[in-house]
Amino acid sequence: MSASSLLDKNKLDEIIQSYDGEKSYLIAMLQKVQEIYKYLPEEAMTYIGSKVEGLSPATVFGVATFYAQFSLEPKGKYEIKVCDGTACHVRGSMPVLEAVKKKIQLQNGKMTTENGMFSLETVSCLGACSLAPAMVINGKIYPKMTPDAVEIVIDTILKENV
Ligand code: FES
Repeated sequence: MSASSLLDKNKLDEIIQSYDGEKSYLIAMLQKVQEIYKYLPEEAMTYIGSKVEGLSPATVFGVATFYAQFSLEPKGKYEIKVCDGTACHVRGSMPVLEAVKKKIQLQNGKMTTENGMFSLETVSCLGACSLAPAMVINGKIYPKMTPDAVEIVIDTILKENV
């Protein structure tokens, strides 16, 4: 299914109208769009940028890329978050992150795999520093991760999905 066929323009119009088409509410509008689609489809940003007075698609895109809360790619079935806060960083979160990237075979600088199974992001602190380096998959925390542990965790998920 292409992204454009997913787009419900009436829904987008409703969102725009609920903020009186006021450009100062752009972030709130984008939050609503992300609530619906779980990410910000490019077509939705273009639509809002061309509909709301005083905005342009480029402006909307610029705002969306600036804020880490917005995802410009669909999330995977399994959302992996690797903590790179200070405690996790000094205890080796970067090798863990690299191991995840390699294991799930992220390509072309994307953060979601082609098959939609995994998406990956880094977060600044999960509030579990005593478990550093920590990783979270779909809300479940994986403490004291190592590259070898990443291998096992991802293999287990893959086996559950054959
Ligand atoms: S720095 Fe990673 S959980 Fe706090």
